[in-house]
Amino acid sequence: MQGTAIAQPNIALIKYWGKRDVALNLPAVGSISITLRELHTRMQVTFDDALETDTLTVNDAPDEKMLPRLSACLDRVAGPDRHRARIASQCNFPIAAGLASSASSFAALTVAAAHAAGRSLTTAELASLAGQASGSAARSLLGGFVELANTDEGIAVDTLCEADDWPLAVVVVAITETGPKAVGSTEAMEISRKTSPFYSNWVEQQSADLDTAREAIQDRDFDKLARIAEHNCLKMHSIMWASRPPMVYWNAATMRCLETVRTLQAHDFGVFFTIDAGPQVKAVCLPEHAAEVVVRLRATDGVADIMVSGLGQGARLEAAT
Ligand code: PMV
Repeated sequence: MQGTAIAQPNIALIKYWGKRDVALNLPAVGSISITLRELHTRMQVTFDDALETDTLTVNDAPDEKMLPRLSACLDRVAGPDRHRARIASQCNFPIAAGLASSASSFAALTVAAAHAAGRSLTTAELASLAGQASGSAARSLLGGFVELANTDEGIAVDTLCEADDWPLAVVVVAITETGPKAVGSTEAMEISRKTSPFYSNWVEQQSADLDTAREAIQDRDFDKLARIAEHNCLKMHSIMWASRPPMVYWNAATMRCLETVRTLQAHDFGVFFTIDAGPQVKAVCLPEHAAEVVVRLRATDGVADIMVSGLGQGARLEAAT
């Protein structure tokens, strides 16, 4: 009745923004991400018939706010008649700050809960369950470069390239703010879908961006991947900026980090940026250039902290319990 799983967050290079079905949490567009190695969430789920309600601790502190979303995920994995559960989450990076903590949390939760409930599920089933909790969580089930595709039935995830097959990437995360974001991504996506004049173009163009990124990954073409990833990221943020009300997740330090990356690019460093629904800048770089990228981003005014990660594997059980 207990399962413990570990999952890493992922960073989308071709982003998902917008839902085609809010109730089922199905994305409007496909996406491509890289799964990280050093950042992780460890989830332990214990079903216990002596419990009257679910309980959640995050880094050893009780958390009532997140609990309903996790309980709903457990209902989907183990059925609504399940025993109540004790959920313990440990996360080694800031939560809800645009660092994809929901991706690693719900990927780990789904895998841990399936094990605790004695269910042996396929990757497709796990992806569907994790994806209903958080759109990006399904991608954290797999390692390396991962594509999430829309299918007639829902979603499918696939590894495009294992982490070791193209160890191109070191991700340097420049943290410019550690607090939680003002508007959660689900709410923000709906505001974008309903009000942004750029939203329909975004949906139309996504398959071309996915094709380009897939080719770049197949050809191990870093420059091509860099160009399409930056373009896709700025396009997503343009939708947010043009929404009503506008949603600007960036701060002044975010902008300065982009300048730092552009300066490095002008000096032929293999690096590109991407930014999610938060103010942090993720610089994806060639391993041989990572040390310099770290030094320059650390020296950028307003950067509070730096995290460095290679590419990692997908969600997995920590131990059979
Ligand atoms: O998984 P969600 O619902 O938190 O959405 C994540 C959206 C972005 O991080 C901005 C883009 C992406 O594809 O991960």
